[in-house]
Amino acid sequence: MADDNERSFSAPRGTNDLLPPESWRWQATTRRAMDSFALAGYAPVETPLFEHTEVFERGVGEGSEVVGKQMYTFEDRGGRSLTLRPEGTAPVVRALLEHGLDRGPLPVKLAYASAMFRQERPQKGRFRQFFQVGIEAIGSDGPIVDAEVIEVGWRFLRDAGVEPRLLLNSIGHLDGSCRLGYLDRLRKWLEENAETLDEEDRDRFATNPLRTFDSKEPATVETMRSAPVITEHVCDSCRKHFEAVRASLDDVSVPYDIDPTLVRGLDYYTRTAFEYVADGLGAQNAVGGGGRYDGLSESLGGPPLPGIGFALGLDRILLARPASEGDDAPVQAFVVALGAEAARAAFRIVTDLRSIGIGADMDHSGRGMKGQMKGADRSGARYAVIIGDDELSAGEATIRDMTSGEQRPVPFAEIARSVGR
Ligand code: HAM
Repeated sequence: MADDNERSFSAPRGTNDLLPPESWRWQATTRRAMDSFALAGYAPVETPLFEHTEVFERGVGEGSEVVGKQMYTFEDRGGRSLTLRPEGTAPVVRALLEHGLDRGPLPVKLAYASAMFRQERPQKGRFRQFFQVGIEAIGSDGPIVDAEVIEVGWRFLRDAGVEPRLLLNSIGHLDGSCRLGYLDRLRKWLEENAETLDEEDRDRFATNPLRTFDSKEPATVETMRSAPVITEHVCDSCRKHFEAVRASLDDVSVPYDIDPTLVRGLDYYTRTAFEYVADGLGAQNAVGGGGRYDGLSESLGGPPLPGIGFALGLDRILLARPASEGDDAPVQAFVVALGAEAARAAFRIVTDLRSIGIGADMDHSGRGMKGQMKGADRSGARYAVIIGDDELSAGEATIRDMTSGEQRPVPFAEIARSVGR
């Protein structure tokens, strides 16, 4: 037997092995997400795990923390610079442009459930490989699309048992009369108030003044309370767009809080920005976030193609929500077989049950009754189907309800009816 030293490999820091029973919950939640996105017309998409590094440098922006500090970038044997995707939006827009999906009806509506990679400092709810479920609606700048996207994420989180709080903001578009004008103003204000900012934040605001709102340093947080906020400085057309988004959210009774300091960490965002936050997650309380990215297509060399979407952190959803029905292993019946003949009968029974869509498993250990019942228990099955010598000769099995402990004999031919859902 290998001693501990010989099998002491561990997964890389910040990654998780998804093992049962947790992996059942993970799978059920992913499915539920994709089903609920499909209900709103979002078709599944899967892009490669890695992209040319430029897709993220140009798409997400070199000024963002994600691109500047967190990417897993490597050179392949052909000398190409590739990057494990840190997020899904730039790859989805890249794929859409590459395959000309924008030449069909717009908006193109796509959904994904994929692993993402960021070299962040691991902590509760923050990993280096994590999973996102998300949607993107690309090709329309109408405010009702914003409301639709936001509602789809909100409803899924509610259905999944997370009670999210929705934070909403408008960060304007990249134009001198809108965000750029505001950024100049904010930069000036930060210069005037630099003395009261934390030292680290003083060096940073020249490149991206908005990021100062994200600082966790107490001195900066205090100062930023009186900083000019973008919501009050966006142009007329952005303001009208934001009003219309809010009106549509009101129409479908999605509650939200306006958070004028919500700026989001990726550089492609324009106009509507939002986040879903949940209690009980500690510092990493954002279960998801998203917004408009009306300039992303052009950053990637495409035509003007406005878009909006979100991504939800699956790892955080599972941390935030209680276990619920439908998460469990789908095995309904576990056959306990005592003896070689009984095992052959058991195999025929589980095969019959599976062929009509009833989840079934059987013992393969050859242990005694007690050991096999433990297996039945561990499988999560609702019923144990017990076959011993007596049962075999009578052509019957004993069916035990694992919850109530009740047992009754059932002829082989009627097992399916007795253990069916
Ligand atoms: P994001 O805010 O960077 O946005 O990530 C979305 C969500 O992914 C976060 O709210 C969080 O729940 C989860 N997440 C992010 N980083 C980690 C991590 N290191 N460990 C665990 N969970 C994490 C985006 O990625 C955008 N692509 C969303 C989007 C789609 N915007 C428009 N369309």
